[in-house]
Amino acid sequence: MTPARYLARDLARSLVGGTADRWRHTTAVAARADELAVTVPADDREVLVAAAWLHDIGYAPEVADTGFHPLDGARHLERLGWPPRVCALVARHSGARLVAAHLGLDDRLDRYPREGSAVADALTHADQTTDSRGRRVTVPRRLADMLERHGPDSPNARVHHLRGPLLLATADRVERRVGTRS
Ligand SMILES: [Fe+2]
Repeated sequence: MTPARYLARDLARSLVGGTADRWRHTTAVAARADELAVTVPADDREVLVAAAWLHDIGYAPEVADTGFHPLDGARHLERLGWPPRVCALVARHSGARLVAAHLGLDDRLDRYPREGSAVADALTHADQTTDSRGRRVTVPRRLADMLERHGPDSPNARVHHLRGPLLLATADRVERRVGTRS
């Protein structure tokens, strides 16, 4: 049976592979998730890396619907029959619930349960330590870039006072897990 990460990579490539920066970011987040896989139970490593490949497919024009990429990506995966856990990890990555509440999409996002696990943390941290062009960055740098790229009125900026601390706390947890395994 083909491991989930390869199916995920192929699907992601078909949807966002044509957008150079998006694809560089996606491949780098998947590589980073693979590095951070030491922080999750062995049985969860495949799902972590698969979710990393898939986390931004909601940006693809053929997938975009509400315009909120974590939700659109999760709904697309659900339609394709991906496991509910993968759909939920994609739906909830990188503090998406806070942004969804700002957008009035929280009811729809809440169909996807929050995992609150080392896997969810590692996925978010992989995304938040990889910039929009695939380069490794710190979480504060990534947040500063986000505010600059999207502007002060963007949904992410509007919830930055809540989302920033959440992402930094996630980073602390992941780095502590990395530390105990090196
Ligand atoms: Fe991302």
